[in-house]
Amino acid sequence: MSDKVYRASTTAPVNIAVVKYWGKRDAKLNLPTNSSLSVTLSQADLRTLTTASCSASFPASEGDSLLLNGEPSDISGARTQACLRELRSRRAALEQADPSLPKLSTYPLRLVSENNFPTAAGLASSAAGFAALVRAIANLYELPTSPSELSLIARQGSGSACRSLFGGYVAWRMGDKADGTDSMADQVAEASHWPDMRALILVVSAAKKGVSSSSGMQQTVATSGLFRERIATVVPGNMAIMEKAIAEKDFEKFAEVTMRDSNSFHATCADTYPPIFYMNDVSRAAIRAVEAINEKAGRTVAAYTFDAGPNAVIYYQEKDTEAVVGTFYHVLQGADIGGWKSADIKGLKPTIS
Ligand code: PMV
Repeated sequence: MSDKVYRASTTAPVNIAVVKYWGKRDAKLNLPTNSSLSVTLSQADLRTLTTASCSASFPASEGDSLLLNGEPSDISGARTQACLRELRSRRAALEQADPSLPKLSTYPLRLVSENNFPTAAGLASSAAGFAALVRAIANLYELPTSPSELSLIARQGSGSACRSLFGGYVAWRMGDKADGTDSMADQVAEASHWPDMRALILVVSAAKKGVSSSSGMQQTVATSGLFRERIATVVPGNMAIMEKAIAEKDFEKFAEVTMRDSNSFHATCADTYPPIFYMNDVSRAAIRAVEAINEKAGRTVAAYTFDAGPNAVIYYQEKDTEAVVGTFYHVLQGADIGGWKSADIKGLKPTIS
């Protein structure tokens, strides 16, 4: 038995949606009820680094394992298992076609992942996490797969992870096939297409979210009437306007759709029975602060968006840094909206490094 250890490493960035994914039409395959669109943030700021290794010498009794930020992490969940199964079966097909290949698909996998941002920061790390995990194993197995094909696999780990396989502006097309083979991501524009774009992340709370995105989605699909309107007309409209705004680098339109879509998503959450609230008073104060900034500037220079938690992501253009970051800083210093700390303010370039 060879004791050779095969190894591959990769990094994947965090993405923040401007047209949100919210709702599954198939929970097992993670198929969405609507398409979505996100901006990939700079890897220098937020990314997961994952190393995958395997060897015939790793004891089979240990099975597959994941060390996340130095701590053993449970990978027995259906989502992670679906990703591992898909990757193994693709590798097994290669091994069957070429019997001279080492049988990596039969060896236990050791995965080691690290985030370059505090996991406790309350920022969604599952997108970068699953994207890095899938690409690291695909590289280890030398699978001839494109980012879009990998996005099909990462999607099964965490829906939003499929968008983290690309930099820049990324769409996840919902597809209409029952087996999900057309529900994948593609790049709408490179980050370099709009080099002025920036994102500011305001950490309101480092606490884990109260209602997980999976159960929040399930409850929304089951009980919200507003949600039906959202997926039938609101999101298709937002996707079309957003793609055009990005193509034309039209910040006013980009910002309006970003804010409207965040509002629409949170409204469907409030429309569930019982209602779900992800934003808190500090989040709402951030919305008012963005409105005040835009009013003062006499045009839209900042856009807020909130995922399934209270933290705000503010998009703006570098040329408006003073108006946005400067004003935010003063508003926050004003202590009118308690909960923010200046140390929590981090300007991030949503460009891929
Ligand atoms: O990928 P998940 O299952 O954690 O869901 C993410 C949902 C949102 O972050 C709220 C929206 C999105 O499109 O990323």
